[in-house]
Amino acid sequence: MKRTLGLIATAAAFAVATTAAQAAEFRLGLLTPPPHIWTKAAEAFGAELAEKSGGAHSVAVFPARQLGNEAEMLQQLQTGALDMAFMTVAEVSNRATDLGAFYAPYLADDIAHAGRILRSDVAKALLEPLPGQVGVVGLGYGMAGLRQIVSRGEVNSAADLTGLKLRITPFTPILDFYNALGAAPTPMPLPAVYDALANGQVDAIDMDAELIWVLKYYEHADTIVQSDHMMFPMVGLVSARVWAGLSEEDRAMIGELIAKYVDGTIDSYVAKEAGWLEQIKGTGKAYKKVDASFFGSAIDDWNAIWSKKAPSLDALRAVAAETK
Ligand code: BEZ
Repeated sequence: MKRTLGLIATAAAFAVATTAAQAAEFRLGLLTPPPHIWTKAAEAFGAELAEKSGGAHSVAVFPARQLGNEAEMLQQLQTGALDMAFMTVAEVSNRATDLGAFYAPYLADDIAHAGRILRSDVAKALLEPLPGQVGVVGLGYGMAGLRQIVSRGEVNSAADLTGLKLRITPFTPILDFYNALGAAPTPMPLPAVYDALANGQVDAIDMDAELIWVLKYYEHADTIVQSDHMMFPMVGLVSARVWAGLSEEDRAMIGELIAKYVDGTIDSYVAKEAGWLEQIKGTGKAYKKVDASFFGSAIDDWNAIWSKKAPSLDALRAVAAETK
């Protein structure tokens, strides 16, 4: 009996040791194309994880919707078919409504302010319910640029957007915003946008400065409206199922590195946003810089809807006021 117990104890100790040292190749999915800042951050994360784990772990990065759109990737994370993703908070907010608070129009005064809001404790606390609510572990925020409007036609006032088929990222806060404005918001994942704008399937798009410039969306537009109307956070996610199977040591290492690389994207956008906007201005397209007054009552309408839907909106507004 003593010998049997001894063997079980030895086997258990061996199993623990094996789990701790278990090598893994993780799969990380993204929507963004290979040259995008998020994709580069994912690759850099993979390289440092391989180095820090002494080659035990590696990360295969799948950009440009290779594993499906974000809704599909989120499902794969839930089942454990996908290990990790750098994903728009927009997509996650379709399942965790409180995250919709980030999209309050003009919550952030500028891109650096958006970064400070995302680095706050209130923002971090919004990630805590994700394992129970969505089946994913949120390890930190990154971001893309503030949102702008690119239109095939002339835009002199918000009335010119009325009835326009205007591409949006598929998530509810932005849908509510453009509905309040009287546009015809058309949800469409990022990789489909270029062709849709080029062939006139949509009249306008909601987009950030990086992609307007780098993916040349401006080529198929007459007017760029620099409105800076919303921030656009990203989150580094690990499947909760995959996370549960990791050793404490691996969780610490992976959690720290994902947080480091997604956070680094905030610095990139703060450094580069103004340059992209200058380059877009230099294209000679009509360029109109507007503020909240451009959108009239649409912002109040949005606030009325989302003050009920997102309990954390007030706390996030308080952070925005403190971090101005
Ligand atoms: C978009 O849907 O517009 C988007 C998605 C990911 C990164 C940047 C923009």
